[in-house]
Amino acid sequence: MNLQWYPGHMTKARRMMQENLKLIDLVIELLDARAPQSSRNPDIDELGKQKSRLVLLNKADLADEKKNQKWSAFFQEKGFYVAMVDSRNRGSLKTVHSIIQKACQEKIERDKRRGIKNRPIRAMVAGIPNVGKSTFINTFAGKACTKTGNQPGVTKGKQWIRLNKSVELLDTPGILWPKFDDPQVGERLAMIGSVKDDVVNIEELSLKLLSYLREEYPGVLNRRYHIEEDGEPVKLLEEVARARGCLKKGADLDYEKAAAMLLEEFRSGKLGRITLE
Ligand code: G4P
Repeated sequence: MNLQWYPGHMTKARRMMQENLKLIDLVIELLDARAPQSSRNPDIDELGKQKSRLVLLNKADLADEKKNQKWSAFFQEKGFYVAMVDSRNRGSLKTVHSIIQKACQEKIERDKRRGIKNRPIRAMVAGIPNVGKSTFINTFAGKACTKTGNQPGVTKGKQWIRLNKSVELLDTPGILWPKFDDPQVGERLAMIGSVKDDVVNIEELSLKLLSYLREEYPGVLNRRYHIEEDGEPVKLLEEVARARGCLKKGADLDYEKAAAMLLEEFRSGKLGRITLE
């Protein structure tokens, strides 16, 4: 599971974060609502300890609504401002503007006391790969967003996106490195599609997902594939393969194909709104 992140990657990402953090007041930390703990790197707490903090439970549209509420309360108790969002949907980001103001109230008052007027709040989006950082920036900034980040030679220095007269967003997100210490973290990140499929065994992964679904979301597999939910995960995968006609030449069941299809259907929300932790 560690394959994608070598220590060198981590050092580089950390250095970038440290540099960018110097420039900003607020960290907008994106987590995947389907696995908020596994998609979070707690090192950000140390790195961003002087900053205002906003946690966005992104892809909330794919996650279990009840668990969204629980995770939201969990992070609020820890002292973060929190919002549940679908970053592809501009409407769901409406509340984020007012939450940013609240999260930065202290800074705004401090500026006032010092006689500094109209210094915008500067914010940075951060999160592990694939959590939705670019999508969030594009939707949140809307038409105001001019993408200059990917043109080598064009971008010199930092680019800021002016959201309104009081908030500016750094156009390059901070990339946090996933923390794979616990093997379950890697599994959950692979299930939600944040670890590339070519570095995991998708059949094994699908068996773990089947086992979890059967325990935590009874009825989901039956509704989607019309299969009985008793029996070992291997049997469930076999039934999914049969139900969907996943066959190899010679009419043997194609488990790999069934596993890939199951994972795709989970990731895209076709199995319903499911949270893994
Ligand atoms: P990153 O910058 O953090 O690496 O993530 P990015 O924005 O590229 O988003 C990764 C994938 O997650 C994209 O899908 C994006 O559409 C999807 N996504 C982002 N936010 C949300 C959300 O709130 N809800 C849902 N359901 N999906 C979200 P993709 O399949 O890689 O690309 P595409 O096929 O959608 O273009």
